[in-house]
Amino acid sequence: MADTRMVQLATNPPHPSTKMVRSNLASSQKISAELARTPSTPAWSFTTSSWGHHSPSDPTAIDEIIQLNPISLQAIYKYDIPSKVPIHGDISFADLSAKCGLDLINLRRCLRFAMVYHYIFCEPRPGFVAHTAASRVLVDSPTARSGVGWFFDELFQASARTLEAKQKWGSDEPQHSGWSLSQNTDQSLWAHYAAHPEMAQRFAGCMSAIAGMVGRLPSFLVNGYPWTSVASSSSGKAKGTVVDIGGSKGTICIEMARAAPNLHFIVQDLPEMVHGAEAGVPADLKTRIDFMAHDMFTEQPVRGADVYPFRNVFHNWSDGHTVQALKALVSALKPGARVVVNDYFTPEPGTMTASKEREVRAMDMIMFTLFNAREREKRDWEMIFQQADPRFKDLRIWTPEGSALCIIECEWRNR
Ligand SMILES: C[S@@+](CC[C@H](N)C(=O)[O-])C[C@H]1O[C@@H](n2cnc3c(N)ncnc32)[C@H](O)[C@@H]1O
Repeated sequence: MADTRMVQLATNPPHPSTKMVRSNLASSQKISAELARTPSTPAWSFTTSSWGHHSPSDPTAIDEIIQLNPISLQAIYKYDIPSKVPIHGDISFADLSAKCGLDLINLRRCLRFAMVYHYIFCEPRPGFVAHTAASRVLVDSPTARSGVGWFFDELFQASARTLEAKQKWGSDEPQHSGWSLSQNTDQSLWAHYAAHPEMAQRFAGCMSAIAGMVGRLPSFLVNGYPWTSVASSSSGKAKGTVVDIGGSKGTICIEMARAAPNLHFIVQDLPEMVHGAEAGVPADLKTRIDFMAHDMFTEQPVRGADVYPFRNVFHNWSDGHTVQALKALVSALKPGARVVVNDYFTPEPGTMTASKEREVRAMDMIMFTLFNAREREKRDWEMIFQQADPRFKDLRIWTPEGSALCIIECEWRNR
């Protein structure tokens, strides 16, 4: 039975809402080699390649709209249904309803929707539920679970309130976002998470799931930037300094430290993020990676470093805040120091492949919803650096082959 389901799943077209689940499967499970070979795009790309090419009356287009319905995946997450279905064999809807606390009619319709739209669960005999490879990942992978929870139990609600928030506040402050409205808070997402660690943890799990996706791997920044040459070193000793601002638990610095043995890394983030982060650094790198609590909107305490990277940070902030964070760096910069931004890059329409452009536009909408922030074009970056300080020079932007994010580099000159 399990084999039949696996073949069924592997031959079905990849459905965007199961992409995160599949991506986790590929990296963490050996359940199905076929799934690992399934072409994947990010889980937030809920449209499909054919969206926009259909007339409104085309049933395929309607199907694509309908699959956006989040209730089934939200129910699967909220009632922790995957853990209540036996790994082998099946369970009746009635027994599952009793186990998870969702009434029979609603449980059955949610799962039957998930089966046909997301290939999560199957009905091997009438009235009984069994796992598919995709639903099994939700048992085995905490990050996949966090991803489904965050997208369907948090982001969807926030998306629905985004324009309402714009009408209510007309502001680009992060605490005036659709996300803040949906959470009934006057705080920004980061501030609210600081007081709600369980939400922060779910978000971090979702980020880990996304970070493992093709195109977003840290290796694109590690291999796509000349780290070893940012400081002179002939002896292999740590001679240069990199200050990774908003560097979270140091995941990127750990990879960069392996690639550039002549560099010392300081990871800066909010206190709750860096708290205890040293524990995650491998023993052989501990002398080269330090953590420091620092709010990037206040004056930079590490003076004279060679590179100050911001990876996946500025797209969380409006232009005004981004300018403010760059201004806070200025007094610490030595001539030749570089600011390196690793973010999505919004293209001129039609200049990227359709799938890549959809991914960028989707992320741009998420930034709108969560933070009143945005992804940016080249001219936006030029304007932001110039507004921060005209002594930021030589802006360069490139995208490593296969990377979803581009690298933006600016050099500091004293005049
Ligand atoms: C999307 S995460 C990116 C993490 C990491 N750079 C990466 O690429 O995986 C954004 C990070 O910015 C941090 N952050 C938010 N506000 C900050 C502030 N005022 N000062 C420093 N870091 C901040 C968050 O805590 C979070 O770790």
